[in-house]
Amino acid sequence: MKKIEDYIRTIPNFPEEGVMFRDISTVLSDKDGLRMAVDQMAASLGDEEFDTVVGPESRGFIFGVPIAYNMHKAFVPVRKKGKLPGETVSIEYDLEYGSAELEVHKDAIKPGDRVAIVDDLIATGGTTEAICKLIEKLGGKVVKIVFLIELEGLKGRDKLKDYNLVSIVKYP
Ligand code: PRP
Ligand code: ADE
Repeated sequence: MKKIEDYIRTIPNFPEEGVMFRDISTVLSDKDGLRMAVDQMAASLGDEEFDTVVGPESRGFIFGVPIAYNMHKAFVPVRKKGKLPGETVSIEYDLEYGSAELEVHKDAIKPGDRVAIVDDLIATGGTTEAICKLIEKLGGKVVKIVFLIELEGLKGRDKLKDYNLVSIVKYP
């Protein structure tokens, strides 16, 4: 029986020289791969009490929505700057390649909300650290963070020592 790592494709030197790109499109394009990824990520959230899944644009949406739907939770999108129409809070952050700015609607997270963050992959941890700050600025509590893939060599986990973080597939 195939494992999730068998569905992940690695493309060297994308989007720039030296980056090993871990491509989830080959997980999504296989009906068993997609189901296995969503189910295992949801299972890793199983015994945590939370109200809302937060996922970042765009790959965080792909896994965040089916997990929220299956677990009967709300989903709140964190988007790249300039996309959300309502009042937002925003934060700048660094990536493995480049930097960006993320926003969330101010009224999407209420003080005391218990939040699970879902994304496809952790590299430097910059995106997730930024999302934690946004959630906490609005009074929410991050109770769990789930990734399909962790790039351990980039030590993103070190930025997130205070959080309960799990990943399904790890690359050195
Ligand atoms: C990727 C990935 C994570 C983030 C991880 O998203 O989906 O969200 O980078 O990197 P980090 O741990 O170094 O912050 P990206 O910003 O490339 O956007 P995309 O999902 O739209 O491709
Ligand atoms: N996002 C940041 N780094 C990445 C990588 N190496 N592969 C896929 N997505 C990424």
